[in-house]
Amino acid sequence: MSQEHLPGHKMIDELITGLLQEQPSISPKFFYDEIGSHLFEAITFLEEYYPTRTEKKIMLQYGQAIALAIGTCDVLLDLGAGNCEKGCALFETLLPKEYRALDISKEFLEQAISGLQKEFPQIQMQAQTCDLQEEMAFPDLVGRKKIFFYPGSSIGNFDPDTALELFKNIVKVCEGSGGLLIGVDLVKDHEVLSRAYNDALGITAAFNKNILLHLNRLVKTNFDLEHWEHYAIFNDQLARIEMYLRSTRNQVVSWAGGEKHFDSGALIHTENSYKYTQEKFESLLTGAGFKSVHCWTDPNSYFLVAYAAA
Ligand code: AVI
Repeated sequence: MSQEHLPGHKMIDELITGLLQEQPSISPKFFYDEIGSHLFEAITFLEEYYPTRTEKKIMLQYGQAIALAIGTCDVLLDLGAGNCEKGCALFETLLPKEYRALDISKEFLEQAISGLQKEFPQIQMQAQTCDLQEEMAFPDLVGRKKIFFYPGSSIGNFDPDTALELFKNIVKVCEGSGGLLIGVDLVKDHEVLSRAYNDALGITAAFNKNILLHLNRLVKTNFDLEHWEHYAIFNDQLARIEMYLRSTRNQVVSWAGGEKHFDSGALIHTENSYKYTQEKFESLLTGAGFKSVHCWTDPNSYFLVAYAAA
């Protein structure tokens, strides 16, 4: 997932433009440098961060029902595959003929796939770079039944309009068969939500602040982590966790050719994490053109796994 290998002008411009906005922001894709990827993995083990283990439990409990709803699978397309662990957990129930792991960085995927290929020699495997905010096309997979897999509520990091566009793109690529198996976090008690993004160990705070170190390397900014703090809050109206970095004093951050003044208390927006009701998520999927939606959830209704048939 690392962006380290492409610090081109486009990326630097995007980052500087974000910092100079009236509401400064940094895209959450910049969380995932090497340290950030490890910190996110640590988050998934936290007691407060329920999504990962809840999704895993749902997948295990309803594995057979999910496989039945999906039917056969020619190609399993794993969106944001990372270390391919979640995708590979589906091999035994879905029996895909081909596995395609997609993520921002192909290098990371290729490593994961080379290990997996030995374990599952019967499955053809391929790594492919993919930016989910851009239109996807798979001309080499035309006519084959494609199952897209997008776990972990990563969909929540897109705003609902962007999520809708992504779903429409998947419906189009599916050509009337196959579909999307997706995990999404549900709206719940605000205290539970807030704790998940404000853990006692401070791992989420470290994950959030690390984005500034990543920027210091990419843009040669001089952010001093001593003077920034983690701030995460649930926005009830928009049903999303909003994450920011808050300046703890008046300060100037500079880079070659520019600078930005931050007052004490000024915020840099780093992430939104949308939470859905089951009804709202189902209507987003059907609104995108999926024909039917099957849903599975946990006893607390904390998390939802859905299969939307194209
Ligand atoms: C990757 N994504 C689904 C996580 C989330 O919950 O929105 C990222 C994260 N941010 C803070 N903690 C976890």
